[in-house]
Amino acid sequence: MDGERIAGQSAVRSLFASEKGPFSMASPRLFDLGADLYAAYTDNAPWRASCAALAGHLPADARRVLDLGCGPGTTIAALAAVMPETRWVGGDLSGRMLRLAKWRLRGAGVAAQLTRLDALALPLADASVDGVVGHSFLYLVADEHRALREAWRVLRPGGRVACMEPAAGYVSPAGIWRVGRDPRFLFSIPPWRAMSRRHRRYTPASFARALRAAGFGDIRCTPALGGLGIIGSGRRGGGD
Ligand SMILES: C[S@@+](CC[C@H](N)C(=O)[O-])C[C@H]1O[C@@H](n2cnc3c(N)ncnc32)[C@H](O)[C@@H]1O
Repeated sequence: MDGERIAGQSAVRSLFASEKGPFSMASPRLFDLGADLYAAYTDNAPWRASCAALAGHLPADARRVLDLGCGPGTTIAALAAVMPETRWVGGDLSGRMLRLAKWRLRGAGVAAQLTRLDALALPLADASVDGVVGHSFLYLVADEHRALREAWRVLRPGGRVACMEPAAGYVSPAGIWRVGRDPRFLFSIPPWRAMSRRHRRYTPASFARALRAAGFGDIRCTPALGGLGIIGSGRRGGGD
């Protein structure tokens, strides 16, 4: 009986365990549990537009692009609408997120290779993709430097990485209202802000530093989502 209770307690502990401590969103099992709700709330126009905006930071002729932390497929669906010739690889730690992505992308008629992976050790060959994107993903990983170095490794010379992440600084409720009035958007932003306060937020300087440390050049940092987010992008050198 005691053994059962201890096993139960340790299962609950491991459900939420991560290097950030209990109840951290960095736990893959928590992403599994929250996946359906997350998919429903982020299926809103401002979020989809923010995903699509990453296209402007990729090589125009990108043929194969990896989406890190692809979640329920929102980013690939939005990008595929503006980059119809590109082949997509979506990677995520969460099996449930990947299942939702499979359904969403099938429904949208988008072909994508979906893979369970850890962004800290990518199962992709060196120089095998033209672009790497991440939308609301990098701020959650335990080691952002390792994730960006892995992105650099799998990019071909001349390829680009582009990530949209939470921005540091205050955005007023009126500012959020100006970005979008869809209740799903309005409900999804407070938990996103709370989560990023706990994990990581970026300034143009801190984003540029992280990208430079991973080896990227031609770094650009631009506001996203009305100042709630920031897109950091960089280019893997060579290939000119
Ligand atoms: C906030 S969601 C973003 C999903 C989607 N990109 C979007 O913008 O809606 C973060 C996603 O990153 C995934 N994730 C977190 N850490 C990861 C890691 N180390 N490797 C791969 N995926 C990871 C989570 O499972 C989750 O699906």
